[in-house]
Amino acid sequence: MRKQIVAGNWKMNMTFPEGINLIQEIINNSTSLKEAQLIISPPYLLLNEAVSLTEETNIGIAAQNCSDHEKGAFTGEISAKMLSSLEMKYVILGHSERRAYFGETDQLINQKIKQCLTNGLQPIVCCGEIMEERENKEHFNVVAKQIKGMFERITAEEFDSIIIAYEPVWAIGTGKTASPDQAQEMHHFIRETIRNSYGSEIANNLSILYGGSCKPSNAKELFSNADVDGGLIGGASLNAKDFIAIAYSF
Ligand code: 13P
Repeated sequence: MRKQIVAGNWKMNMTFPEGINLIQEIINNSTSLKEAQLIISPPYLLLNEAVSLTEETNIGIAAQNCSDHEKGAFTGEISAKMLSSLEMKYVILGHSERRAYFGETDQLINQKIKQCLTNGLQPIVCCGEIMEERENKEHFNVVAKQIKGMFERITAEEFDSIIIAYEPVWAIGTGKTASPDQAQEMHHFIRETIRNSYGSEIANNLSILYGGSCKPSNAKELFSNADVDGGLIGGASLNAKDFIAIAYSF
């Protein structure tokens, strides 16, 4: 059975004290949560504290990025090995903001995925089209190409620990959510694409999360679809009550 997951991507938000408060609030409000695996992804600054504070809980911690290199003279970068030394589990990779503002390509993301897998971290790998691509009916081709590039030379055994997030770029931070049908259609397509490359067992076990203006008012409808296994939440994850309400939406 694949896992239902609700992950909060805080992006570049929260000072150190604000972040500690939010983590604490999320912990306090989620003690009886059984429906989903919660993951929070604060900025690097807070990762160490986040790991310590959530030690006795079921909450997982994710970084928002990592280097494509193993180590060395890469000022400002954080390696997968460093992250794994904090005993955290997940890393978000290939977010559309990293593609758009930092020029990340599928090939670079592929290197980062390999770094994570080598260091025992589970990548949450993002894909998704821009509005123009959807309007031109290219969205399936775009996502198929991203998947092909990002998972090049990743073996079936390695793929077992991958989580995919479908985040249509036009829905991120815009208040415009994909309809439940649009989400289901793309999630199903992604699962079938993975089935073709890696076989049915891996495809059936793969958690595919939806991201893009997901909030308490639309989460239930989105998560009720057969191939939608949870969400990658941006804005609404900065409010503990909204974030937890989304996790109770299964
Ligand atoms: P929003 O939920 O703010 O639209 O952001 C989604 C996202 O980018 C999560 O990674």
